[in-house]
Amino acid sequence: MRVLVTGGAGFIGSHIVAALTAAGHEPVVYDALLPAAHPREPEIPDAEFVRGDVRDAAALEAALRGVGAVCHQAAMVGLGSGFGDAPDYVSCNDHGTAVLLAAMARQGVSRLVQAGSMVVYGEGRYVCPVHGVVRPGPREVADLDAGRFEPRCPLCGAEMAPGLVTEDAPADPRNVYATTKLAQEHLAAAWARATGGRAVSLRYHNVYGPGMPRDTPYAGVASFFRSALERGEAPRVFEDGGQRRDFVHVRDVATANLAALDAVGDRPEGRHTAYNAGSGHPHTVGEMATALATAFGGPMPVVTGEYRLGDVRHITADSARLRRDLGWKPSVEFGDGVVEFAHAPLRS
Ligand SMILES: NC(=O)c1ccc[n+]([C@@H]2O[C@H](COP(=O)([O-])OP(=O)(O)OC[C@H]3O[C@@H](n4cnc5c(N)ncnc54)[C@H](O)[C@@H]3O)[C@@H](O)[C@H]2O)c1
Ligand SMILES: [Zn+2]
Repeated sequence: MRVLVTGGAGFIGSHIVAALTAAGHEPVVYDALLPAAHPREPEIPDAEFVRGDVRDAAALEAALRGVGAVCHQAAMVGLGSGFGDAPDYVSCNDHGTAVLLAAMARQGVSRLVQAGSMVVYGEGRYVCPVHGVVRPGPREVADLDAGRFEPRCPLCGAEMAPGLVTEDAPADPRNVYATTKLAQEHLAAAWARATGGRAVSLRYHNVYGPGMPRDTPYAGVASFFRSALERGEAPRVFEDGGQRRDFVHVRDVATANLAALDAVGDRPEGRHTAYNAGSGHPHTVGEMATALATAFGGPMPVVTGEYRLGDVRHITADSARLRRDLGWKPSVEFGDGVVEFAHAPLRS
């Protein structure tokens, strides 16, 4: 199948393109090579390439000819450098998705797989010993300043145990990026209903692996650590390092996209379905830093107690639905993936 991969020159997109080619599909990379994502000379994946912006309807329509499905990865990612970035996030991610979906409708392309994110869940799922499952609000600055990083039960203030988030958990985006990722899903659902399209969103958890961008305000935590090590500096671990995340390897995310592209044509018309895409094995941010520093040969991480306001404490996925419905399963173990990542090139 001919598959248009928006953002196909990016970290995850380029792995999807490689996996599509290996599986005998025909990927077409559609990417604007945004300077925020590609500050230096970008590497173009080895595939048909269109330099274009997802907000450019005419360029998209030309690129969509003969395409059987779209794999939509293009987005501005990360926390950014402040609220001043908000118009750019909304423009790229939401206006861009709307232009893409309208162009697909005009060209009769009815299958969409798009990159979602676990950030739509906000603070995740917690169990209070007294009140059961509760949803804590954003953490207070005073608590964070005092080094009280664990969210407490909103009803009784008790300490809680973090649990696995399932797809039916209510959405609760906590920053601009998260808000745009949630809106992308709502747009896909509205498009599917209005046009009889079929859409799948894969809510990636913390993706890491070869080709991850170097540290910028737009990068993920594993890349901050890896970049520090390359400079000969100790990785700086925020809070107390106990933040739990599901680190999923980029090649596993690529195979999840392939599984979704294979399955999306069989989904009911007019339907959008979201799936968590995580490894199923949570680790703390501190564990990631230590494992990476050990594999790299030091220096070992320092825990700084700093924090970023938009960050959540724990967010870990239950990806059973993706395994069950699409027959996907991750194949890269955390230990192996981290050793490879410690020595693999980053994207400059
Ligand atoms: N990396 C993660 O841990 C992670 C986690 C959850 C979700 N995601 C999602 O996965 C997708 C890919 O992220 P990534 O980590 O590979 O980021 P990336 O920055 O490496 O890749 C994104 C690509 O999209 C392109 N792009 C951005 N805006 C565009 C536009 N308006 N028109 C055309 N191209 C545009 C950029 O040039 C870049 O090549 C994004 O949708 C992101 O929200 C990533
Ligand atoms: Zn309680």
